[in-house]
Amino acid sequence: MDLVIRNGTIVTASDVFKADVGISGEKITAIGHGLTGEREIDAEGKLVFPGMIDPHVHMALPFGGTVSADDFKDGTVAAACGGVTTIIDFAIQAKGKSLAETVEARRAEADPDVCIDYGLHPAITDFTPEVLAEVPEMIAAGMPTFKLFMTYEGWAVDDGTLFATLEAAGANGGMVGVHAENYKLLMYLIERLVAEGKTAPRYHAESRPDFCEAEAVARAILWAEQTNSPLYFFHLSSRAGLEYIIASRDRGFPIYAETCTQYLLLTDERYDEPDFGGAKYVMSPPLRKEADQKALWRGLATGDIQVVGSDHCPFTMEQKRLGEEVFTKIPNGAPGVETTLPLLYSEGVGKGRISLNRLVEVFSTNPAKLFGLYPEKGTIAVGTDADLVIFDPDREVTISVENLHMKADYTPYEGMKVKGYPVITISRGEVICEHGQFKGEAGRGRFIARKRITRI
Ligand code: URP
Ligand code: ZN
Repeated sequence: MDLVIRNGTIVTASDVFKADVGISGEKITAIGHGLTGEREIDAEGKLVFPGMIDPHVHMALPFGGTVSADDFKDGTVAAACGGVTTIIDFAIQAKGKSLAETVEARRAEADPDVCIDYGLHPAITDFTPEVLAEVPEMIAAGMPTFKLFMTYEGWAVDDGTLFATLEAAGANGGMVGVHAENYKLLMYLIERLVAEGKTAPRYHAESRPDFCEAEAVARAILWAEQTNSPLYFFHLSSRAGLEYIIASRDRGFPIYAETCTQYLLLTDERYDEPDFGGAKYVMSPPLRKEADQKALWRGLATGDIQVVGSDHCPFTMEQKRLGEEVFTKIPNGAPGVETTLPLLYSEGVGKGRISLNRLVEVFSTNPAKLFGLYPEKGTIAVGTDADLVIFDPDREVTISVENLHMKADYTPYEGMKVKGYPVITISRGEVICEHGQFKGEAGRGRFIARKRITRI
């Protein structure tokens, strides 16, 4: 064998057991005891996870007159250092372009730079009969999941588009994922706040209240139930939205939700940080209240929320200052791809909110299943891709922008102490990150043609 990870504690979504993992080429070829190989890594006292899968990142995203700060190279180096071995980004349709052209252009950006494996969700913004006809073609070409924005100027889709795409994706083994916020309502609230002179970052949150998300969640669920199609909610932030999801799941519908560490760990008090500091947290949906956090943690533990993603969309403070005069001009998003695993471990497993197995399930196995990557990715078994994270459960780290690889010049978690940190990341048998040092090469990552989704 080329590489053996010895004496580690293997954690999958269902098991925790001590064994060696043997790797030949890009695959796991043995799990057992006393394995030997050309290179051996001693993982005594460490956890061995399947590589984490972040299904929601935005590298080099043009937004609000600027572009998110991590390109595919910077962002995937950071991902690797945070224990993530697969990302799914978006190919957002420009007006008048086909989905095929959109994907081709996005792949031309990503392929030369990407350091870990990746997939793309086509995002429909300009719906026509021709675009609808492309939905089954995209699924057959390895992109079974589509993003529809229910908000944002130029990207928001109408209910007809959502209904038709749900039907087409659901009938062909695919799935629609939505950014759920009521666009018209939030635009009305924005106009009202700005007219009242309420232009500081704090008013970003006030312009997008929880009921704005909940209404969009309820509406999308109604169309999904009518079309009998699976539906995924990206970055769910509110208890009010979660309640609609739970009710539909209780009726037996395949409705899925992702939340993000920012909604689990931060609250809207952050918008009051001095010196324009609140801009760091301007993201959509916005940060919420403690009651929402509690509901999200509970949903994660009970299974009503199936996935954690980062919604990694970093901007520097200079970029955020585009909105110094009015919050509507602050580019939306925050860095997170590198910090999700340590935060989820420390705040989730470490504080007894979720089990070790559940951590692997929500950040690796479930995204693999829901997004057509399983079983090659998302678990540790003979025959699967050797995407692995060696994780030191005792390593104490103070999260700081100084020791992260993401290109934003801040982290929302500055100064937060975590116990447990990834120490080695392996992608298809190659050690690509060791103790915070990236060892791989740009362009080594592959575009993964994903299969049809597995309903969970
Ligand atoms: O504020 C956010 N979330 N920015 C990224 C784009 C999106 O909505 O996912
Ligand atoms: Zn979104």
